[in-house]
Amino acid sequence: MKTSLIDTLAREFEISPSRMRSIQRAVTAEIDAGLAGRKSSLAMLPSFCDAASGREKGFYLALDLGGTNFRVMLVKLSGAGTVPTVVAEAKYRLTPGQITGPGDALFDAIAAYVRKFLKDHAFTRPYALGYTFSFPVKLLGIDEGILIKWTKDFSASGVVGRKIVTLQRQALKRKGVGNVDIVALANDTVGTLQARAATDPYCGLGVILGTGFNIAVRVASKRITKGVGGYAGTGMIINMEAGGFSKSLPSTRHDRRLDRESGNSGQQLAEKMISGKYLPQLARLLILDLIKKDHLFAGQVPAVFADTARFAGEHMAILQAGSSEAAQALARELFGRNLTPSERRLLARVCQLVSRRSARIAAALIAGSLKRVERRSKQRVTVAVDGSLFAKYPGYSRLLATAIQELDGPASKGVRLQLTQDGSGIGAAVIAAVVASE
Ligand code: BGC
Repeated sequence: MKTSLIDTLAREFEISPSRMRSIQRAVTAEIDAGLAGRKSSLAMLPSFCDAASGREKGFYLALDLGGTNFRVMLVKLSGAGTVPTVVAEAKYRLTPGQITGPGDALFDAIAAYVRKFLKDHAFTRPYALGYTFSFPVKLLGIDEGILIKWTKDFSASGVVGRKIVTLQRQALKRKGVGNVDIVALANDTVGTLQARAATDPYCGLGVILGTGFNIAVRVASKRITKGVGGYAGTGMIINMEAGGFSKSLPSTRHDRRLDRESGNSGQQLAEKMISGKYLPQLARLLILDLIKKDHLFAGQVPAVFADTARFAGEHMAILQAGSSEAAQALARELFGRNLTPSERRLLARVCQLVSRRSARIAAALIAGSLKRVERRSKQRVTVAVDGSLFAKYPGYSRLLATAIQELDGPASKGVRLQLTQDGSGIGAAVIAAVVASE
């Protein structure tokens, strides 16, 4: 009986090679539709910049907003394909009130932190600044864009539909910051691609596999037929907003419940199957199912599973792959007692099913996107990846690489997945430098 329910869940969560191929094909078709301005679940948002050449030089400020941690950095670029250096960096935590309250309060808080950062380090010269804003933004040019919608946990009012850079500039002015000029606005996937491109000319994709999920792709400008004003480069990086992808996805009753109960039902469907914000929520639903059918915890729901937000990715990692001592220590913390061997096995299996499915769906999206990369070499292409799932979740990066190989066979030989940490911060500085060098 116990084996059969978990076997059913395992069947529901397995992504077969043919399912991966059908997702891969759908991604490529949706990319083409999005670039042509036809209806597509991929927003395919132009970034108005091409990949860095590696020759960029100078000191640039970077702002990185995408989660509750907000960063300010000063980055030095020395050209000649050398690795950018972080001269100074500060991380600040935004409060729930700031990310869900009035928009002006959010931008004021960011501006106040920028002022503090400049003061703490006595940075008084004029600086060009690159702003990584990791939400769906329709850029109007390289240095201005309109927020399409909030994702993740953000909901600050009066920002959707407004010009982000204008709002931030007004806040900087209100806070008396006079030596900073925002010259570029970018998504974190674009920043990640750019941070890698500064040292690697073969970089064609930037991927975030963290709290959120998304991909940026470098395409030939001639493929973008939906119109990008006077942009003259031969290639352009596109923020796909891949978390919004919705075709051919193997939605289970648990996915449908998660979506119904989320604050943005019907949206970000791929992200809800892939990203670190949602995997613990999915695992929780599977666990609740097992409890209801009396396979776990003697039919009693532990308090940690009673609300949607307490069970976390770090817990999943320990339950799936931690030592017995670590898993039992966590169990005592979460459930007030040790787990029986069968409970341990079941919990580990649930976490494994959910994370493995995430990696296989992400692989199909990456493989579909690779088909449209404007490559600088037939033999090799680099995929820059950042985010806690990829960097830290047990076995995740290996599952991802294996699934890409499974899809693309020998052609995947030249595909290199490169962890590009801090891509969103350093990348913003790189983009500011690209703009300055034009
Ligand atoms: C946002 C993307 C972002 C991704 C990773 C998603 O929720 O819509 O713009 O790139 O998270 O941070």
